[in-house]
Amino acid sequence: MPSRKNIILVGFMGVGKGSVARELIKISDYMSVDTDDLIESMENRSVKRIFEQSGEKYFRDLEKRVSLWLENSVSNTLISTGGGFYKQENLKDIGVVVFLNSSFDKILKRIKSHPNASKKLKKRPLLNDLKKARELYKERLPQYMAVADIVIDVTDKSALECAKELLEKVKEHA
Ligand code: S3P
Repeated sequence: MPSRKNIILVGFMGVGKGSVARELIKISDYMSVDTDDLIESMENRSVKRIFEQSGEKYFRDLEKRVSLWLENSVSNTLISTGGGFYKQENLKDIGVVVFLNSSFDKILKRIKSHPNASKKLKKRPLLNDLKKARELYKERLPQYMAVADIVIDVTDKSALECAKELLEKVKEHA
């Protein structure tokens, strides 16, 4: 099979990167990895614990290490990322950057409607303070837009609809 570029999913916490990735691997032959999962297995502890015990800077250094590994060693793969991963300098060298976009309120609504809502909120240290999280969203939105090759508005769409749209747009982009 000819080598394809990786697809990198970026976007704010809770926007549905993991859900879209899971649908996408069902309807395509992409395999997927998740940067937070990679970090958790490298460290054998959760992202929440890493933030609590070692601080955000330590976590960002691990993201950097993962980004270099992805660039040098991974191809043909759908890469789902943590909400701050888009800041990696080599993002564009890893693959096609797809930004999943939604308003902050819709993201909160999505998280709160989940059966495990409180778990979803608790596992994300940067969502502990919703006022600060809203500020972070405002600060990041233009930055996500700036790094994106493709933008998918996920508002009121199912994960499967988003995954189909994503595949179409990636094909057009190639
Ligand atoms: C973060 C998002 C989280 C996780 C960490 C930091 C961020 O991932 O990487 O808590 O800076 O936005 P999700 O986007 O999967 O929640």
